[in-house]
Amino acid sequence: MPSNVIVGLQWGDEGKGKITDLLAKNSDYVVRYQGGNNSGHSIHINKKHLILHLIPSGVVYPDNKCIIGSGVVVDPQSLLQEIKKIESIGINTSKVFLEKRAHITLPYHRLLDKYKEEALGDKPIGTTHRGIGPTYEDKIARVGIRVLDLLNLKNFHKKLKDNLDYKNQIITKIYKRKPLSFQSIYEEYIEYAKFLLPRIIDSVYELHDAFKKKKKILFEGAQAMLLDINYGTYPYVTPSSTSTGGVCIGSGIPPIFLKNFIGIAKSYCTRVGYGPFPTEIRSPVNEIIREKGNEYGVTTKRPRRCGWLDLFALKYSCMINGINFLIITKLDVLSELDFIKVGIEYRSHGKKIQHFPANIDEKNIEIIYIDFPGWKKDISHIKEYDDLPINCKKYITFIEDYLNLEILLISIGSERNQNIIKNKSSFFKIFS
Ligand code: IMO
Ligand code: MG
Repeated sequence: MPSNVIVGLQWGDEGKGKITDLLAKNSDYVVRYQGGNNSGHSIHINKKHLILHLIPSGVVYPDNKCIIGSGVVVDPQSLLQEIKKIESIGINTSKVFLEKRAHITLPYHRLLDKYKEEALGDKPIGTTHRGIGPTYEDKIARVGIRVLDLLNLKNFHKKLKDNLDYKNQIITKIYKRKPLSFQSIYEEYIEYAKFLLPRIIDSVYELHDAFKKKKKILFEGAQAMLLDINYGTYPYVTPSSTSTGGVCIGSGIPPIFLKNFIGIAKSYCTRVGYGPFPTEIRSPVNEIIREKGNEYGVTTKRPRRCGWLDLFALKYSCMINGINFLIITKLDVLSELDFIKVGIEYRSHGKKIQHFPANIDEKNIEIIYIDFPGWKKDISHIKEYDDLPINCKKYITFIEDYLNLEILLISIGSERNQNIIKNKSSFFKIFS
């Protein structure tokens, strides 16, 4: 059975957790295929707030198998804490599995992430300090330690020793900090290995088998298109392939298995960390949106930068991801505003830029906006699209026309049931 993919189309925090949870209800598997515990996916059920960093957002359904795939970088400490935390609120995690080929984050990765950022002075990337970059660096340098290495202690001992000897040179000689102790890391990770052992699987064969058995598989993207290592606003990106293309790479399945590419976009934009943000709002409206939308990082608690919807960037994201269904989230957050702007075009020295720039030179870019009058009405309890205020519908129609895509669903609040299904026939085809 061809499967569904959920990806974020902006700079993250689009509400992927909520939508994954919604789709997971009728899925057999939910798979994370890239990123690590830098992501923070939120699910709100009956006013309870569940935050997931590594565990796929299908975990609340007892029959769902949740797989952390080979493209993910896994911090065992963080995974263990997450498992314990969600078990403590009565959620069963016995169906959470970890792919043996996934790479693991070690304490030196976290430290190096922090030291590198500090060394960049006033021009850091603004990473989450979770060690994501250094873990992927080791993977590409072919010295990384994988989950399966934890199963062979002799092997793990040697790999850790070799890696740590080298990292300690960098830590002491370049960053002038204290070296890390081999023994304490080794002992700590042996404990993680014992804990994680029953969850370690070969998910590649598991997923291929599931396809043969016509199981429904949902791939849950982390981060988002504009943070993609290849196509995002480099170098202010995350070091993984966040697009739909990353699904095959990070889970070991061929493209032909994939069918519905569901893109999630917020009705405005946010960004955490540094890097270009052409439609960033430079007026008190930035704070108004931040407060109304609770735009604070789930992982790092940092205030998010807020901006208007950037349709030019969104079109680029939809193109790269082959999006065939669009979901718009947090539309309720805009309800109090007198007017709403939408970025539709980038210009440089008065000339329209045809393609989303590979390098955004914000000083020389002018954004052309269209202004929409606000609807000034609470929409968070509306159930039917037709009942939305006319100005709100105009905003939605404009987005659809610009992107030449129909919106499947509009999310109007963080609770599971705060949604307006716009395209019912497609929705039920995908979601049932
Ligand atoms: P979810 O899955 C928003 C950002 C960081 C930083 C950049 C690189 O919740 O949407 P990293 O630690 O990945 O090396 O940091 O990427 N970033 C996110 N921003 N949501 C996320 O995840 C993010 N994960 C990383 O803020 O700018
Ligand atoms: Mg998040």
